[in-house]
Amino acid sequence: MKITLRLVVSLIIVVAMIAIGFSLYQVKIERERLVRELERRTALLSESLEESVIPLVQSKSFVKIKRFVERFGNRERLIGIIVNDFQGETIASTKAISGYAHIILPQVLNSISEKKTIHSFKKIDHKEVFIFTKFFEDEEGNVTGALSLFQDSSFIDIRLREIWKYNFLRLVILSIVIVGITLLVVKWSITGPIAQIAEWVRDMRLGNEKEKKKTMALNNDVFAPLVKEVTQLAKTLSKVKKSMEEEKIRLDTESLWNAEKLKAYTSDKLGDKKLFVISNREPYQHLKEEGKIKCVVPPGGLVTALDPVMRVCDGVWIAHGSGDADRLVVDEKNKIRVPPDNPSYTLKRIWLTKEEEDGYYYGFANEGMWPLCHITHERPIFRLNDWIYYQKVNEKFGLAILEEIEDIESPLILVQDYHFALLPYLIKEKRPDAKVAIFWHIPWPNPETYGICPWVRELLIGMLGADLIGFHIQLYCNNFLDTVDRFLESKIDWEQFTISKKGHISFVKPFPISISPAFSTNNINTQRKDALKESLLKEFDINGIYMGVGVDRIDYTKGILERFRAIERFFEKYPQFIEKFIFVEFGAPSRTHIKRYRELLAQTEETADNINWKFQTKNWKPIIFLKGNHSHEKIMPFYMAADMCMVTSLHDGMNLVAKEYVASCLEDSDVLILSQFTGASRELKDALIVNPYDIESMADAIYFALTMDEEEKKIRMKKMKENIMDNNIYKWAANLITELTRF
Ligand code: F6P
Repeated sequence: MKITLRLVVSLIIVVAMIAIGFSLYQVKIERERLVRELERRTALLSESLEESVIPLVQSKSFVKIKRFVERFGNRERLIGIIVNDFQGETIASTKAISGYAHIILPQVLNSISEKKTIHSFKKIDHKEVFIFTKFFEDEEGNVTGALSLFQDSSFIDIRLREIWKYNFLRLVILSIVIVGITLLVVKWSITGPIAQIAEWVRDMRLGNEKEKKKTMALNNDVFAPLVKEVTQLAKTLSKVKKSMEEEKIRLDTESLWNAEKLKAYTSDKLGDKKLFVISNREPYQHLKEEGKIKCVVPPGGLVTALDPVMRVCDGVWIAHGSGDADRLVVDEKNKIRVPPDNPSYTLKRIWLTKEEEDGYYYGFANEGMWPLCHITHERPIFRLNDWIYYQKVNEKFGLAILEEIEDIESPLILVQDYHFALLPYLIKEKRPDAKVAIFWHIPWPNPETYGICPWVRELLIGMLGADLIGFHIQLYCNNFLDTVDRFLESKIDWEQFTISKKGHISFVKPFPISISPAFSTNNINTQRKDALKESLLKEFDINGIYMGVGVDRIDYTKGILERFRAIERFFEKYPQFIEKFIFVEFGAPSRTHIKRYRELLAQTEETADNINWKFQTKNWKPIIFLKGNHSHEKIMPFYMAADMCMVTSLHDGMNLVAKEYVASCLEDSDVLILSQFTGASRELKDALIVNPYDIESMADAIYFALTMDEEEKKIRMKKMKENIMDNNIYKWAANLITELTRF
């Protein structure tokens, strides 16, 4: 039985018992009062009758007595009179009661013998009758007879019944009122608060606890101690839960990020929402080759990093369709599902005119912004015409993304790189609900350097449209804030690393980009390192013991010439390595419409030729320069077989080749020579860190790498591998999404 029902039933029983008790008492008192009253009235009546009856009895006028009792025996409540002589013999009786004379005889005799007035109640003809008997005497005091009056006393029962009826009705009304009030009080003061506490505790248990409910606001004296205790308990529970969550996050963070984990994470964070990525370079390019269409992955860190993320998150990647067969494979909306072997996301291609490509990509982005940001002593060129095309193409991509997100509430958009500095503002202007991040894949220089650009303010305003601005390392974030501080009117919070402009806040944070932990496992090569090295060198008809590898786009920022010069110096300084050490350079020609890049390509080939000419022997040469866009599958065996890798960028946002090499090398007995001017050098501290401008020490670094103790190599490589596995591209994406969905 519920407590409320129990309470109500108990209350009704108690109230009923009290009511019955009081009623009994009231009935008793009332009855006594009524009887007394009846007795008094009957006594008065009897006295008045006696005055007439006594002389008649004494004179034995029986006929007169009979007439008298007949005449007065039926008044108001009086239903009859009986007159007895001193022996109890009936002298006269009212007709209506004549049959009952015998039943009052004992009472009559008693009254006569004891000389007292006696009354009693009897049932006569189903009626309650009050019988009053009083003796009478002569002047000498001798009892001469008795007079009995029969009064109808049924009114007493009626009156008492009324009392019962009235009290019962009162009990019913009282019970209803009491039950109602009890229920309300119970609800307000007991069940309500208990239900509230229960709901609150349940919410806490299920993790639905709302911040506002953390302290129970119950205005209830009864439950105040309980509320106090439960509040305390809730706080403790909350703390325990928080620390458990932190522990879970810690454990989660400790466990390796991979595709599955990112998938679960993004579906939790984004629900059904898809990601939108915008970059200049497309992840898959379709090219015509010998009458067929082939699909290639263009070189560059951006694609290496983002393709695995998009495969997991799905969504739309908008990019410039630059392949000569790109238009042949897309649908009417210029879309195609990629990758071709396992379609996992949509690539939407944007077509650019030759003028747009020249002005925006080759001109402004790669002859202006690229050297501007890289500080490689390459003079940036800024032309008004290029700037106009840069703006136009940003607007073109802006329209494309706005069309894509038309029906999507608060879409998540990741803008990539220096090609689209204006895009965040263009998107947010039209869709303030969109969450926009821009990730800058190249360095950000100091304000003095950046100030060279005639449109520095416009570029900064464009970027500040983003909610989140990401760079590879903290230094670039610092430089960015310095630059904004120098050129724009805005509020900068140096503690939070935020920039507030016209009420909009942009968070600036480092997100060191990385590779997939599955990078190396894509290539199954069962050969041991030495055997693999031998078979690879055989392909070039060359003998050697040690092999070094370099993989770059042919770009003046990569320090390829400096690397070759260091190799040259190495052989000069350490001739014992002639015919023993071979360096394989994979060089992908890049941006070859730009004169500087064409010159660099020629210069690179020439330098390699000169060095080879200087040192080569019959079956050996120091540098194998492999010009072309080589697939990962082609490069991977070289990563695995090489004894060392050289990444000697003069300036590089991150450089993923360094990470790819560490992730792929076999047996952990290899060495990475890494430029101090790469973002990667902040993480891969166990590489041999070099200044690429210092040819002498680079030559020594090569020697050191080739002669390093095996144990030391293993220790260094192990630490770097762990770092890359822990901070892989899935973690990068998760961090970016976490930050972006925080606002
Ligand atoms: O790393 C910087 C970067 O611009 C990337 O965005 C891009 O993947 C890579 O260099 C290659 O450049 P491009 O797309 O001009 O060939």
